[in-house]
Amino acid sequence: MSDLYPVKPEFGARARINKDAYQRLYRESIENPEAFWAKAAERLDWFRKPTVIKDVSYKLEDFRIRWFADGELNASVNCLDRHLATRGDKTAILFEPDDPSAPARKVTYRQLHERVCKLGNALRNLGVGKGDRVTIYLPMIPDAVVAMLACARIGAIHSVVFGGFAPNSIADRVADCGSKLIITADEGLRGGRRIPLKANVDAALKLPGTQSVETVLVVRHTGGAVDMQAPRDRWFHDVVDGQPAECEPERMNAEDPLFILYTSGSTGKPKGVLHTTGGYLLYASYTHEAIFDLREDDIYWCTADVGWVTGHSYIVYGPLANGATALVFEGVPNYPTVSRFWEVVDRHKVTIFYTAPTAIRALMREGEAPVKKTSRASLRLLGTVGEPINPEAWRWYYEVVGDGRCPIVDTWWQTETGGILISPLPGATDLKPGSATLPFFGVRPALVDANGQLLEGAAEGNLVLLDSWPGQMRTVYGDHQRFIDTYFRTYPGVYFTGDGCRRDEDGYYWITGRVDDVINVSGHRIGTAEVESALVAHPKVAEAAVVGFPHDIKGQGIYAYVTLKAGEQPSEELQKELVAWVRKEIGPIATPDHLQWAPALPKTRSGKIMRRILRKIAENQPDQLGDTSTLADPSVVETLVNERKVR
Ligand code: WT7
Repeated sequence: MSDLYPVKPEFGARARINKDAYQRLYRESIENPEAFWAKAAERLDWFRKPTVIKDVSYKLEDFRIRWFADGELNASVNCLDRHLATRGDKTAILFEPDDPSAPARKVTYRQLHERVCKLGNALRNLGVGKGDRVTIYLPMIPDAVVAMLACARIGAIHSVVFGGFAPNSIADRVADCGSKLIITADEGLRGGRRIPLKANVDAALKLPGTQSVETVLVVRHTGGAVDMQAPRDRWFHDVVDGQPAECEPERMNAEDPLFILYTSGSTGKPKGVLHTTGGYLLYASYTHEAIFDLREDDIYWCTADVGWVTGHSYIVYGPLANGATALVFEGVPNYPTVSRFWEVVDRHKVTIFYTAPTAIRALMREGEAPVKKTSRASLRLLGTVGEPINPEAWRWYYEVVGDGRCPIVDTWWQTETGGILISPLPGATDLKPGSATLPFFGVRPALVDANGQLLEGAAEGNLVLLDSWPGQMRTVYGDHQRFIDTYFRTYPGVYFTGDGCRRDEDGYYWITGRVDDVINVSGHRIGTAEVESALVAHPKVAEAAVVGFPHDIKGQGIYAYVTLKAGEQPSEELQKELVAWVRKEIGPIATPDHLQWAPALPKTRSGKIMRRILRKIAENQPDQLGDTSTLADPSVVETLVNERKVR
């Protein structure tokens, strides 16, 4: 049972895409993808127009994914230069600092173009060129956008590392892609606290595997003290300010890499998801325009960080390719008060607001008053991303934040997909709270059972995609085999998302969450294997198993089972020490919520940890352990159930 929120006639009448248009365009996009995407490609400026549109085979023996393969373009030209004639003085970036009493700043398209060109020239002078990797470890400030676009301008591949990651995580990501240069800041500011970004980079570069880094550019942001090591470290302003304001853009093939972004998988270290230039940019800009029903005078705010794919596609590349005004927010939802989001909406007259369910749930807990004391009259459209949104939170978002006026687009996608794949179009799709609803143009979702059998009609199974879309990732950086094994081997011939999903009688999709060993904590992906390897790196830990469990605010929390080495005694101090250790090894987002001592872990006779059972214990459902007949030692499970932390 779910209620329906039909498209509001006023919204539908003015929308870019109404019901009829959605059905017609969707049909065209599936029946004739070549013609559909050839036409869509006209939205970009090409140095050389593509004549080959789609060249894709998911067959393992003949695998390839190529879009617009003979086209040539530059992403920064599409985000900047082509707007200068008509939108030169339009605000590209509205910057709202962490401290609400500090002045907000506007960066016009002309100013952004100049800053990007200057940095592009500086990077070239420092020996960075096409195909070189640049790591970006910056706070949410306009220079983060400048850094990304400057890389794109000269054909360097950026790898943005979220500012919340610890030195080890930075080092892993730098080592994996062999970056030549890092762009960072003295410090970041979040909720009034200083984040020692430069010091974290210093610590990372002491770790093995990072010797590819020749230069560290440091943005002076807070003015906090940093240790500058000559000749490696240079102040950003020293090398950038004196540069010429024009910078020849690199001619990029549509399939040349644009960026790498690391994301967690079910096994091993994070994967370097690689996106290319033409298909990605086209898909980000088209989805951004259609799904947010973008208009010229919109003030668009996506609260994500540029360290995640949402920031890449829906703060930087999509909005700027569309000539939109994008708000960049340095702060957090609860600083200085839990009204902050809505105060920022009012201050800047935000019209489109895009955030994560975890933020909505956290603010919902604070009640209506902090919302209702603000106006929010400028809002016309709301969006969510990152995890399933529970219907209560959806309704609160709709009724309290949106005053029942604004449609909500619940957008399902992944780092790997580059852009949104399943989402309502606000002028075309009747909404159901908790459902991401229907596929975007060109997207062919399907459900399969565990054996890969396609399920028809209303059904629940594993979500796969039958065909490619332009924004699809092309490879795992440096490990193409891993790309194929991860996404195309489970169910041969289709892309496997890793998500479970239900399709209802109206064909609406309801994502139920990950079906692999990935935990979705506050909309961020954490691989259980990463947390486990951080734990076993501690000298006192023999073995660890990590699973997710339902969490009121975060969606899922992290539950760790730890077996100590012989002779080590469990204690409350050691528990705290291990939790702090994981924070230090990976970063605060991987902090375990619960840590339970496990004298032993439940294993099969062949030695495989039975995570299914550990999940049930963490979920506090010991009566639903399922088949335990393959356990090598059933008493292990009994002990864990009895000793489970009471919450
Ligand atoms: C995973 C991808 C896409 C940008 C943010 C996360 C989950 C994402 C939704 C949604 C239900 C969602 C899925 C997906 N997810 N959006 N609207 N409804 N689940 O990117 O870190 O690559 O994580 O997030 O489980 O597989 P990501």
